[in-house]
Amino acid sequence: MGDKIYIFTILLAVLFLGRQVISYINEAHFKRKHGCKPEAKIPQWERFVGYHFFKSLTEESRSRKHLKATEWRYATYGSTWSVVVAGRRFINTIEPENVKSVLSVNFKEYSLGGRLVAFGPLLGEGIFTTDGAQWEHSRSLVRPNFNRSQVADLDTFETHIQKLITKIPTDGSTVDLQTLFFQLTLDSATQFLFGESVSSLTSTEGSVQEQFGKMFDLAQGRLLRRIRLSKLVRFFKDKDFDVACKVCHEFVDNIVNKALEKANLADSEKSIDATGEPERYVFLTEMLKATRDPRQLRDELLNMLLAGRDTTASLLGHTFHVLARRPDIWDKLKAEIDELHGQRPDYDTLRDLKYLKNLINECNPALRLYPVVAVNARFAVKDTVLPRGGGPNGTSPAFVPKGSLVVYSTYVMHRRKDIYGADAEEFRPERWEPEEGLRPGWAYLPFNGGPRICVGQQFALTEAAYTIVRMVQHFAGMENRDPTAWAEGMAVTLSSGNGVKVAMVPR
Ligand code: HEM
Repeated sequence: MGDKIYIFTILLAVLFLGRQVISYINEAHFKRKHGCKPEAKIPQWERFVGYHFFKSLTEESRSRKHLKATEWRYATYGSTWSVVVAGRRFINTIEPENVKSVLSVNFKEYSLGGRLVAFGPLLGEGIFTTDGAQWEHSRSLVRPNFNRSQVADLDTFETHIQKLITKIPTDGSTVDLQTLFFQLTLDSATQFLFGESVSSLTSTEGSVQEQFGKMFDLAQGRLLRRIRLSKLVRFFKDKDFDVACKVCHEFVDNIVNKALEKANLADSEKSIDATGEPERYVFLTEMLKATRDPRQLRDELLNMLLAGRDTTASLLGHTFHVLARRPDIWDKLKAEIDELHGQRPDYDTLRDLKYLKNLINECNPALRLYPVVAVNARFAVKDTVLPRGGGPNGTSPAFVPKGSLVVYSTYVMHRRKDIYGADAEEFRPERWEPEEGLRPGWAYLPFNGGPRICVGQQFALTEAAYTIVRMVQHFAGMENRDPTAWAEGMAVTLSSGNGVKVAMVPR
C-alpha cells in the first residue's frame, strides 16, 4: 500500500513537472514568434500573493493619493509595467496602442474578468457585468433605446433641474454642488429607467425611495474594494454590502413587478403602449417589448443605473469645480448662453452652443484631466500580446499570459506630456483648437472605445449640457468656497474628494 502511494505521488509530481515544462516551452515559442521582450516589473519581495502591493493600494485610496501614486509609478517604471496583486498579475499601461489592442483590435482575447464576481451581488448579469454571447444579447436589448428621441427628453430633465435649483441658497451661503448633482442624476436616471423617480432631491427621510438611494450608494461604494480583492473577494464577508444589495433588489423588483402586471394587462388588450400613459419614454417599458424575465429586467436596470448615474454627476461636479475657479471661463460661457435670452434650449440648440460643446465634449477637464472612469482593466482569456511595453525602452511587444489583467489608467494617459504638451496638467481649452493639431486618438478615452464603447454618451452629454445651461441662466456667477486643492474621490468613478463647495450669485 505504502509503495503504491509512493509511486502515485511520484507519478503526480512527474506529470505536474511535465506540464510545467511543456507550458514553459510553449510560452517561450509564443514569445519568440511575437518578438516579445520582458516588461518592467515593480520590485516586490514576493510575487505570489502580492499582499504588500494590495495593502499599498488600500492605503493610497484611504489617503486619497492613489492617482498621484499611480502617476509616480508610471514616471518611475515607464509606460508599461507589471505587478502582482491579490494573486494576479496586473500589467499596467498608458500606451494608446496597447489600449486600442485590448479594447478593439484583440477584443475577443479579453474579458471583464472578475467584474461579475465583484459586482454580481448588486448588479446581477447585465450589460455592464457579462461577456461573450450574454453581453451581446444585453447590448442588443439596451443599445436601440439610445436613439435621438430618447436622448432629447429635456422636459424630464427640466423638472429635476428645477428641484435642484430650489435647493441652492441665494443668500450667499455655501452649498456643495457635487452632492446635489449626485441627487439630480439619481432622480433623472431612475425616472428614465424605471418610469418613476426616487426624487432624492425632495424625498423625505425614511421613505423607501430615500432608503434605496442610500443603499445603492453604500453598495456602489464597496465595489472598488471588491474588484481589487480579485479572486479573494469570496473570502471577505461584508454584511452591510449584503443588506444594501437586498434593499436595492427589493426596491427594483417591486417596480419591475408593477410594470410586468401592467404590460400583461396591456397584452390582453393587444398593446404595451396602451397602458394609459404612453407619453414619456421609459427604458423599462421598452425592455418589456424584448423580455418578460423579471430577473433580467432587474439586472439590466441596475446595470444601467450604475453605468449612468455617478458618471454624469462626476462630469457635472468637475465642470463646476473648474468653473468656480475660472471666472474667465464662466464669463465666456455666460455670454454664449445669454444669446438664448433665457429660453430653454432644445436638443439642436444645445448642439449649436459651440463654446459649451467644446467645454464639455472636447476640452472639458472633467473628461481629460479628471476622467470619470479613471482606471479600467481587461482580463486575458488566452495568452496574448500587447504591441508595446516590452524591452528596456518599452517599444517591443509584451507577453500577456492567460489569466493576467491589463490595467489602463485614463487619468495618467490623459496627462501624458509627450501627447498633450509640456502643459498637459493645465486646463487650456485652446489646445483643442484645430490649428494646434492635437489628435490624441486612443490616448483620449473618456467613454472607452471598441465594441464596448459607452452606450449612454449622448444621453450624458445632453443631460450635462442642459444642466449647465439652466444653471448659468439662473445664476449670474459663482464664488469658490473651497481653498484646498483638488483631491481624488475614487470609487468606481472619479469625483472631487472635497466636493464642489461654492456660493451661487443670483441674477
Ligand atoms: C459622463 C458620463 C459618462 C461617462 C464618462 C461614461 C463612461 C463610460 C465608460 C468609460 C465605459 C466603459 C466601461 C467598461 O467597459 O469598462 C462606459 C460603459 C457604459 N456606459 Fe457610460 N459613461 C457615462 C454615462 C453613461 C450614461 C448616462 C449611461 C446610460 C444611461 C451609460 C451607460 C453605459 C453602459 C450601459 C455601458 C456598458 C457598455 C458595454 O459594456 O457594452 N453611461 N461608460
